[in-house]
Amino acid sequence: MPIIQVDSVTKTFRLYKKDPGLLGSIKSLIYRKYSEFKVVSDISFSIEEGELIGFIGPNGAGKTTTLKMLSGLIAPSAGSVRVAGYTPFDRKPDFLRKISLMMGQKNQLWWDLPPMESFLLNKEIYGVPDKQYKVVLDELVSLMGIQDIIHVQVRNLSLGQRMKCELIAQLLHSPRILFLDEPTIGLDVVMQKKLRDFIWQYNKKYHATIILTSHYMDDVKELCKRVVVIDHGIILFDGLLDEVIKRYSNAKLLSIIFSGSIPPIHELSMMGTVLSHDENQIKLEVARGKSNEVASHILKQYTVADLNIEEPPIEEIIRSLFSRNKQSHVSR
Ligand SMILES: Nc1ncnc2c1ncn2[C@@H]1O[C@H](COP(=O)(O)OP(=O)(O)OP(=O)(O)O)[C@@H](O)[C@H]1O
Ligand SMILES: [Mg+2]
Repeated sequence: MPIIQVDSVTKTFRLYKKDPGLLGSIKSLIYRKYSEFKVVSDISFSIEEGELIGFIGPNGAGKTTTLKMLSGLIAPSAGSVRVAGYTPFDRKPDFLRKISLMMGQKNQLWWDLPPMESFLLNKEIYGVPDKQYKVVLDELVSLMGIQDIIHVQVRNLSLGQRMKCELIAQLLHSPRILFLDEPTIGLDVVMQKKLRDFIWQYNKKYHATIILTSHYMDDVKELCKRVVVIDHGIILFDGLLDEVIKRYSNAKLLSIIFSGSIPPIHELSMMGTVLSHDENQIKLEVARGKSNEVASHILKQYTVADLNIEEPPIEEIIRSLFSRNKQSHVSR
C-alpha cells in the first residue's frame, strides 16, 4: 500500500479585494469582495515507502502548497490526502513524529541562538528520548562535518552551514517521511553535492520516503528516478525521469571531433542544426529518430576522431515542457 496517497486534491486561496483609499477600507469592513484562486487543481499521485521523488515545476506552480498539505500545515480545499495512514491536517502527534518538512527558503532555526539550542528544543517538542537524541545528533553532526559550529549563533553562520543545521533540526526525531522543499537553495556546487549525498544516504539507510523540490536539475538527476512535474497547479507528468527525456525531447546531440579541420558548415547543417563549432569540433542537434543514420553517414563521409550521441540537457527538456503548457494555458 502506498505510504502517500493524494486523490483529486485542490487548493483554493481566497484573495480579498479592496477598493483604494479610506472609503475602500470602510466598504471592505462591511462587505468583503474576494476572488478565488486555485493554486493546486485536482492532483492525484501515490508514493511507495522508500521512494525518493523529485517534485519539479516553475515558480508558483504549487509545489510548496502541496508539501504543506502533505505535512498538515494547511488543509486541502477538496480531495483527500493520506500520509502513513493519517490525514495530515488532523496533526496527530504520532503523525507529526513520522514526518518532517524542511523549507530551504525559510529559516526554521532560532536566529539569535546557536543551532544546538534549536536542536534541544526540537528534542523536547518531539519527545525524543535522551539516548536516542545523543546517538542521532552525533551521527548527523559528524556526517555533515559541523562539529565546530553547533555552538555559534545561527545569525553568524554561512548559508551552507545554516542549511546543514536546518536539515539536522528536522531529522532529530528520525522521521520516516521527509518533505524537502528546496533543501539546496543558494548553496555552492560543492555544498549542494554534500547535501545531496546526505539525502541519498538517509533515503538508503533508513528506507525513508522523500519528496524533494528543487530548481537545480542536478539534484533531481542525481537523486530521483521518478519525477512529478507540476505547473499552474496541474500535474503535467508523473513517471521516470528517463521517460521525460524520451517523451518530450525530439532531438539528440551529436558531438563530433574531426581528425583535421571541420567540414564546410553547410554540409553539416543539411543533417541537423549546428549548435556550436570550433576548429575541429562540432555540436549538431538532430532529430531523435535520425541520430544513428546521421552518425553513420558522418563516420563514413569524414575522418572522425571521436563521436558521441548525447541526450539534450534535462533543463532544456523540462523548460520546453513548461512552455508547451504555457501555450495551452493561453489558448484555453
Ligand atoms: N497563503 C496564500 N494565499 C494566497 N495565495 C497563496 C498562498 N500561498 C501560496 N499562494 C499562491 O499559490 C501559488 C503557488 O505557490 P507555491 O508556493 O506553492 O509555489 P511553488 O511551486 O512552491 O513556487 P516556487 O518554486 O517559487 O517556490 C502562487 O501563485 C502563490 O502566490
Ligand atoms: Mg516553493
